[in-house]
Amino acid sequence: MPADFDTIVNLAKRRGIVFPSSEIYGGLRSAYDYGPLGVLLLRNVKEQWWKAMVQHRADVVGLDSAIIQKRDIWRASGHEEVFTDPLVQCSNCNTRHRLDKLGDEEVCPNCDSKGTLGEPRDFNLMMSTHLGPVESDENKVFLRPETAQGIFINFEHVRRTQRMKLPFGIAQIGKSFRNEITPGQFVFRTREFEQMEMEFFCRPEEAEDWYQYWVQNRHDWYMGLGMTPENLRIRTHEDDELSHYSDRTADVEYKFPWGWDELEGIANRSDFDLKQHAEHSGQDLRYFDAEANIRFFPYVIEPAAGATRTAFAFLIDAYQEEEVAGETRVVLKLDPRLAPYQVAVLPLSKKLSPEAGRVADGLRRQFMVDFDTTQSIGKRYRRQDEIGTPFCVTFDFDSLEDAAVTVRDRDTMVQERVAVDELPGYLFQKLAR
Ligand code: GAP
Repeated sequence: MPADFDTIVNLAKRRGIVFPSSEIYGGLRSAYDYGPLGVLLLRNVKEQWWKAMVQHRADVVGLDSAIIQKRDIWRASGHEEVFTDPLVQCSNCNTRHRLDKLGDEEVCPNCDSKGTLGEPRDFNLMMSTHLGPVESDENKVFLRPETAQGIFINFEHVRRTQRMKLPFGIAQIGKSFRNEITPGQFVFRTREFEQMEMEFFCRPEEAEDWYQYWVQNRHDWYMGLGMTPENLRIRTHEDDELSHYSDRTADVEYKFPWGWDELEGIANRSDFDLKQHAEHSGQDLRYFDAEANIRFFPYVIEPAAGATRTAFAFLIDAYQEEEVAGETRVVLKLDPRLAPYQVAVLPLSKKLSPEAGRVADGLRRQFMVDFDTTQSIGKRYRRQDEIGTPFCVTFDFDSLEDAAVTVRDRDTMVQERVAVDELPGYLFQKLAR
């Protein structure tokens, strides 16, 4: 049975995946803290993205640029002027709403009054602060609303120092900030979130082919990590949906409990950003083709995903309820590469904890290992199923004699006896992808 929204939110809070931020002070809407299991899931999502986008490719390198950047960058990129949402205010209850998200443009979604919504005004989504002790317009800076601009401003540094030739990409994972008017649906839309973005620079005449390539490649990445194919689709943007920098965009969408929604956008940003930064900074950001002896601005294809949003989608997709021996088993069928723990070591009796602890310690260098001694073995299996641990290793009284343990597979629930000496190799082989 697939998950409903509240079930996933409850599971996330109950099992230490995601906590509402600042909760002991009453909470801060739209900010979340990742608990001990959530941080592992999120790290694994980012690790898989980095492997696919950087480690496994000869044509992409990485970057980690600053969150606070000069205001000039956001002037050049167009964000200061047009990174806005249209906002209407209700004269009856004083709440503000995004015009483009209203069901009925005449009715306030908060107090249901008719005809009380005012004229739309553009609201800039960037968050600002000031550098230094004086709060003046000169030292105003923005927290980045996308990681992408950090890549464009470093294009020439990276190209030169790494001797990159077209086509090539620069990838980056990091936090971004947007003063969203309507944050919501748990961690789906927050004001502080993590992005995984790659800018792929290519010759203008090759841009369409690379765009098609990256749309398919990114869709297949989610499938390769076990996302249900029927819950994934590619949707091309209509012209009136395109961002100010985009020639063409397609979203990879997931069927969330509330309907289809965006996981990632793949955009053809043309030469917009490099041209803008060249003009505003006065630096020549054109690429020199030595063979043809010409300089030109490369085009950019950008796959831009949300790490926090993607981790949430994998969580929803993995959730299953199954009937086992007349009881309901909750199991997260996460790909082992994404699961917070790969292995749980469970001593059958607390008396066996020292010996079982040594088995767990022997596995910790290669795997994330949980060690659980409380309640019956059946309950402990269920607890591990619920957080998606692919393998449980039970150390019983026979283990003291035969130096072997029972390994239980999360999905099939089949159990196998394995020698302790062979356990790392056995698990390694089972978990290899
Ligand atoms: N550089 C292009 C760019 O930022 P975007 O579609 O605005 O494009 C890319 O953002 C991805 O970042 C989205 O597909 C989404 O996964 C994630 N994202 C954007 N805003 C978000 C928010 N408020 N909360 C969580 N994730 C967000």
